[in-house]
Amino acid sequence: MSTILGIESSCDETAAALVTSDRTILAQRIASQDEAHRPYGGVVPEIAARAHAERLAPLIEATLADAGMSLDDVDAIAATAGPGLIGGVMVGLVTAKALAMATGKPLIAVNHLEGHALSPRLADAALEYPYMLLLVSGGHCQILLVEGVGKFRRLATTIDDALGEAFDKSAKLLGLGYPGGPAMERLAREGNPRGVPLPRPLVGSSEPHFSFAGLKSAVMRAKQSGLYTDADIAAAFQQAAIDCLIDRTRRALASVGPVNALVVAGGVAANKAIRASLEALATEHRLDFVAPPLALCTDNAAMIAWAGVERFALGQSDPLDVAARPRWPLDPEAGAVRGAGVKA
Ligand code: KG4
Ligand code: ZN
Repeated sequence: MSTILGIESSCDETAAALVTSDRTILAQRIASQDEAHRPYGGVVPEIAARAHAERLAPLIEATLADAGMSLDDVDAIAATAGPGLIGGVMVGLVTAKALAMATGKPLIAVNHLEGHALSPRLADAALEYPYMLLLVSGGHCQILLVEGVGKFRRLATTIDDALGEAFDKSAKLLGLGYPGGPAMERLAREGNPRGVPLPRPLVGSSEPHFSFAGLKSAVMRAKQSGLYTDADIAAAFQQAAIDCLIDRTRRALASVGPVNALVVAGGVAANKAIRASLEALATEHRLDFVAPPLALCTDNAAMIAWAGVERFALGQSDPLDVAARPRWPLDPEAGAVRGAGVKA
C-alpha cells in the first residue's frame, strides 16, 4: 500500500491531503481564499499567489499532524503542475520539489484536470475505465472519454466561457456576489425555470462543443428589461445550462463505443439539479452514474493525491526540473477550437 501527499494551489484554494492506494483520505486541509478575492468579484492572480505562499507550508505541516504522520511515512509527493494561474502553480510545485529533494521521495507532477477526471475513482472503487466524463468547473467545460491514466479523448469543449464562469458572471449580474454558482442554485429553487425565455447555444448543432457567452448576455438583457424576478432569471439560466449539458452529453455518448459509466466532476458538479438531470440521462442509456461527493468536486488536494496514487502504481514520477504549465490540455491531439483560446 502506498501513501501519497497531494498539493493543490492552481486557483484560489490552498490544499494538502494524504491519500492511500486503498482509497483512504487520511487527512486533508483546504484554505479557501474567497474572502480575499470577494471585493474584486473574481480571483486576482497576484493575491492568490501571495496567499498560497503564506499558507501552504503550515497547511502541509498541519495535514501531516492530523494524520499523525511525518514525511518519512509518505511514498511520493504529488503536486498540481498546471493548468492554472502560474503564480499559484509555481508555489505548490516548487514546494513539492523542495520536499522531494529534502526527503529523496519521488515527485509526481499532476495535471489539475486529471485530478478532477480521476477523482471519481477515489470515491468509487468499482468505477473502471473507460468512462464518459463531463468536467464542468470555473475554468473548464469539457466532455472527455477517460480511457486510463493519462489517456483522454476530448470530445467537446467550450468555444467561449466555461459553465462555472457563466454561473459566476450571471450571479454577478444579479448582484449575488462571488463565487456565484452556489448562490445561483439557491435562488433558482425559488424561481420558475420556464419564466424567462433564454437561448440554448449550440443545442442540436452538428459540432460537438459548448457555448455559454450568449446565455450570459441574455441573462444581462433579461435583468436590464426589468420584466422578470431575479429568482426566475436564475431558474431559467440553470435550466438552459442543463438543457445544453444534456444535449451535448447525449451527442458525445452517441459518438463513441461502449463506456462503463457517465461521470460528472468539477466544481459545477456540486449543483444538485445538474446532477439529477445527468443521472436521468445515464439511466436512459443504462449507464452507471457516478458523481463524487461534493467535497471532491470542488478544488481539493485529495484528488491530486489520488492522481498521484494512480501514477505511482504505474511506476511513474517526474524529474525535479519538471516545468509548471499554465496551459496543459489533457488531450494533446485535440485541436484548438474557435474562440477557445483561453481555455486549456
Ligand atoms: O472546480 P472548481 O472548484 O474550480 C475550478 O474552476 O477549477 O469550480 C469552481 C466553479 C465556480 O465557477 C463555482 O461558481 C462553480 O464551480 N460552482 C457551482 C456550484 N458550486 C460551485 N456552479 C453551480 N452550482 C453550484 N452549486
Ligand atoms: Zn478545478
